[in-house]
Amino acid sequence: MEQYVIKGGNPLAGEVEIGGAKNAALGIVAAAIMADETVMIENLPDVQDINVLLQAVECIGAIVNRVDAHTVKINGSHIGNLCVDNEYIKKIRGSYYLVGALLGKYKHAEVALPGGCNIGSRPIDQHIKGFEALGATVDIEYGLFIAEAQNLKGSHIFLDMASVGATINIMLASVLAEGRTIIENAAREPHVVDVANFLNSMGANIKGAGTDVIRIKGVSSLHKTEYSIIPDQIEAGTFMFAAAATKGDIMIKNVIPKHLEAAVAKLIEMGCEVEEFDDAMRVVASRRLKQTHLKTLTYPGFPTDMQPQISTTLALSKGTSIVTESIFENRFKYVDELVRMGAKITVEGNTAIIEGVDKLTGARVNALDLRAGASLVIAGLAAEGITVVEDIIYIQRGYERFDEKLRSLGGQIEKVSTEKEIQKFKLMVG
Ligand code: EPU
Repeated sequence: MEQYVIKGGNPLAGEVEIGGAKNAALGIVAAAIMADETVMIENLPDVQDINVLLQAVECIGAIVNRVDAHTVKINGSHIGNLCVDNEYIKKIRGSYYLVGALLGKYKHAEVALPGGCNIGSRPIDQHIKGFEALGATVDIEYGLFIAEAQNLKGSHIFLDMASVGATINIMLASVLAEGRTIIENAAREPHVVDVANFLNSMGANIKGAGTDVIRIKGVSSLHKTEYSIIPDQIEAGTFMFAAAATKGDIMIKNVIPKHLEAAVAKLIEMGCEVEEFDDAMRVVASRRLKQTHLKTLTYPGFPTDMQPQISTTLALSKGTSIVTESIFENRFKYVDELVRMGAKITVEGNTAIIEGVDKLTGARVNALDLRAGASLVIAGLAAEGITVVEDIIYIQRGYERFDEKLRSLGGQIEKVSTEKEIQKFKLMVG
């Protein structure tokens, strides 16, 4: 099992380049198989979740040609198998986009039920409601999500909550359906817009992505395209909070500043200096930061995917902060790990009360999910002494070369897999 071993205490400083958005890429790779021509996707993040999804589409007959680490060509004209079921696909959340894509294109899909990070119960009722409204029948049997239809017909769908996954999945299923589909209370996240833009570049007719009403006019087929995925705003936010927590100075390059407004507002409230450029952002924390309160919300509110990172930063900031998690009920499990490092946090229901402490101290902690894992790495970089983060497989699902990027900013972090390597690191850092 790989681990990160970290010696904390160095303010992070320098420049870091952000990769393509993982959660957009999951929808886009699934959408790519809907064309019978070759689609080229650039700025693809080279992370575990995407690699698993690429393997899955290859297994059902799509031709996948990895041009380089961040570019892939996909041709979906030879798909012969509409059942996606292997031991890896169950582990990723984005696998459910293959239901929308295969149902939309072939009117039949069988996909192993999605896994993903253990951050709450994560129901899929809104996806099912959307597919059924389009005329499909949906069953869950033998661990498979099975959807089929004679014909898909556009429909008017009201989502009970603005679900990212359901919005993208319904878009995928409806782009080739007959007539018009309207999705009300649609998710407005940047990755929803990116998937819609990608589908439109293949000839789909989707309007309103980025607002809460998306209108889709069915077309008869999709064609080839070349498309570059937007930068990952959560990776960018993670480095912004890493700068804040370590009292550092980081220039974060290849970002869309508009997507980071909620995080920037909080960093400024906490006392950071944030400088915005066309496609970069500089975050400087020259003094001890102060408390703030926040509630996670759908876009453009403060994202749940940055909640562990800001909470870790607040654990070291002056005063008492209150953080309310309104999207996923289980997203405070990492708090126990932070407490082991000296944080003073109590969780009551979906609220964390964070009493800022002067310092954290290194400990052996577990990355319980992707973002929690990243936040423990931030904690380790800010803490006194040595931290070992176990189960980094979760972090690798969504962060590309995380340790390498942090090292380039002066972070003392190494990927190790044995106790001997940990001892060697300790001797090296003194
Ligand atoms: N929900 C339902 N029924 C549904 C769908 C969602 O009740 O049918 C609920 C969920 O339980 C949750 C809320 O609605 O309480 C929002 O869930 P959403 O569907 O928006 O989340 P998701 O599609 O499962 C994606 C990202 C998550 C990110 C959320 C929120 C992917 C693969 N995952 O999940 O990303 O936290 O949107 O923005 O795109 C991550 O990257 O670390 C991550 C967990």
